Amino acid sequence: MALLGVRNLTMHHVTKMGDVHAGDDVTFAIEHGEAIGLVGESGCGKTSIALTLLRLLPDNAKFLGGQVLFEGVDPTRLPAGEMRRIRWRGISMIFQAAMNSLNPVYRVGDQIIEAMQTHMNVSYAQARRRVAELFDLVGLAPELMDRYPLSTPAG
Ligand SMILES: Nc1ncnc2c1ncn2[C@@H]1O[C@H](COP(=O)(O)OP(=O)(O)OP(=O)(O)O)[C@@H](O)[C@H]1O
Ligand SMILES: [Mg+2]
Repeated sequence: MALLGVRNLTMHHVTKMGDVHAGDDVTFAIEHGEAIGLVGESGCGKTSIALTLLRLLPDNAKFLGGQVLFEGVDPTRLPAGEMRRIRWRGISMIFQAAMNSLNPVYRVGDQIIEAMQTHMNVSYAQARRRVAELFDLVGLAPELMDRYPLSTPAG
């Protein structure tokens, strides 16, 4: 069974000007260990599809049908509490535009630690060590975790 299967997913955003078709009969599967890229022009619905998988759609979004299977469960039909358990640990999203998704007045490391502590039973010190490891893994100096998202190398 695929790690993630999306079948005939259709969702709209409801607006005063009418419905925006953001995902129309979308079907794809991702196997364990596989990476796929979803490519399309700006506004074609890539982010809307990702938000549907994570059940993070805004209130005006209308899920019209289709099936999602992540490790055998359909995140679009799970109760909110159960969804919270698999979100981030099992399936998560790196939001585009760091300028919009990171809070400019909190240090980068603390924002990552906050997410870790929300989803895992770890102390601040343990989480901080893990952030340093993760930074190292992607070639970032661990000291950068004490920077603010918008700061320049000098600041
Ligand atoms: N909350 C919303 N209300 C109304 N329309 C929306 C909303 N969010 C997205 N849309 C519309 O849905 C369509 C798909 O948007 P989406 O952000 O999913 O596209 P995208 O493929 O991720 O684009 P980009 O490449 O620019 O990130 C667009 O027409 C967008 O204007
Ligand atoms: Mg997008």
